[in-house]
Amino acid sequence: MKRTLIKHALENDAPQDQIKIQGWVRTRRDAKTFSFVEVNDGSCLKSIQVIVDATLADYQKVSQVNTGAAVSITGKLVESQGKGQAWEVIADSLEIVGHADTTYPLQKKGHTQEYLREIAHLRPRSNLFGSMFRVSSRLAQTIHRFFDERDFVYIHTPIITASDCEGAGKLFRVTTLNPQKHSNAESLIDYSRDFFGQSTYLTVSGQLAAEVFACALSNVYTFGPTFRAENSNTSRHASEFWMIEPEMAFCDLEGDMDFAEAFIKYLIQDTMESCPQEMDLFHRFVDKGLKDRLRFVLDRPFQRVAYTEAVEILKASGKSFEFPVEYGANLQSEHECFLTEQHFKCPITVYNYPKEIKPFYMRANDDGKTVAAMDVLVPGIGEIVGGSQREEREDQLLSHMKHHQLSPDHYWWYLDLRKYGSVPHSGFGLGFERMLMFVTGVANIRDVIPFARTPGSAEF
Ligand code: 4AD
Ligand code: MG
Repeated sequence: MKRTLIKHALENDAPQDQIKIQGWVRTRRDAKTFSFVEVNDGSCLKSIQVIVDATLADYQKVSQVNTGAAVSITGKLVESQGKGQAWEVIADSLEIVGHADTTYPLQKKGHTQEYLREIAHLRPRSNLFGSMFRVSSRLAQTIHRFFDERDFVYIHTPIITASDCEGAGKLFRVTTLNPQKHSNAESLIDYSRDFFGQSTYLTVSGQLAAEVFACALSNVYTFGPTFRAENSNTSRHASEFWMIEPEMAFCDLEGDMDFAEAFIKYLIQDTMESCPQEMDLFHRFVDKGLKDRLRFVLDRPFQRVAYTEAVEILKASGKSFEFPVEYGANLQSEHECFLTEQHFKCPITVYNYPKEIKPFYMRANDDGKTVAAMDVLVPGIGEIVGGSQREEREDQLLSHMKHHQLSPDHYWWYLDLRKYGSVPHSGFGLGFERMLMFVTGVANIRDVIPFARTPGSAEF
């Protein structure tokens, strides 16, 4: 008999004479003449209740049906007598596919998130993490749909790269050279003898390659893994994360900000509509009032504020921040949180940052001080999107590169884009995991990633 996913079993509108369900046991309760077995297969939040009658030949196996065991059950789908579920299964046969003993760590509810991180191989079987990864999957599909509906072309940009897009030097080196064999000190290694004939790294962003394709196909995006060797142990930073980077030709900063806002709202709207059970769970048990806050976000425009103005607001706040507020300094997470949570009480888009704190590729504004950069900041997380209009003028770009001590020879292909049919273009990066944190209300990035990579931790 063909297996029915529990999700589909529960969607039935009529009883079924024969059904086969397979999954993992959540609980078993024994009564005098029968046992209740709750089975979950991860296809949806809900489990299905199975009644195993003592008259059944397989009933002798029931005592071994422990929490965590894998079972295969055939039987009848009938209307449930119990509360909270429409359907249940009266078993005809019960097979234990994989035993679990009483050491199974998810016996009881109420484990801490910290403990569950240590058992990242088992936590997907919990309601919270099952929900998380179903929502994550849907979110990824929705991202592709959003771009497809708008005629964006999906580009696979390289994961191994020779350029440091963000210029922040937070790169993981990719090499096949054995340092012991090739030198005594890192600085003496001759990387021209390395696998690719030069130094290569795991990418921090697909942007530069996306720009190439935007300057040919107009509207493109990349959605892939990115890597940052940044030693920041925060709840919002991962060493390996996924980024969605649209890049649009003939688009200025204004258009970029509009697009980022529409994108974020589309993703929130879809998640709320397509994952109602999961969103209910997050709303009730993870972040009380989550759904109301997301609706609030959907209903209002994001506030736009120039960096200079943001600094003035922070200075006038009278708050004593750990990091001082100074024109020309990066906004720290405490500043971002103050602006979104206390001052504006909604997502904001901060634009026109001082050129000193932004990468070489951003377009210089006429004031000579700022660049056409923008960051979207949201309550609870801070920066979720970083983007800009790109410098499309060759002479200006060369001067930025000089300032950032980048070799034009190394970026010859990037400069070529400014030589042949250069156009104003803009784009941004949305951190997939931060978006997932925002829509689910889960506060730590380690709990939205199947197996998180953070400084000092790459277990599993
Ligand atoms: O602001 P970032 O560094 O921007 C770029 O990389 C640009 N090249 C993007 C572009 O314009 N195409 O990163 C973009 C976003 C951040 O706003 C944040 O959401 C996420 O990527 N991000 C991280 N997420 C998790 N862990 C980290 N260590 C992250 N660093 C950035
Ligand atoms: Mg940024």
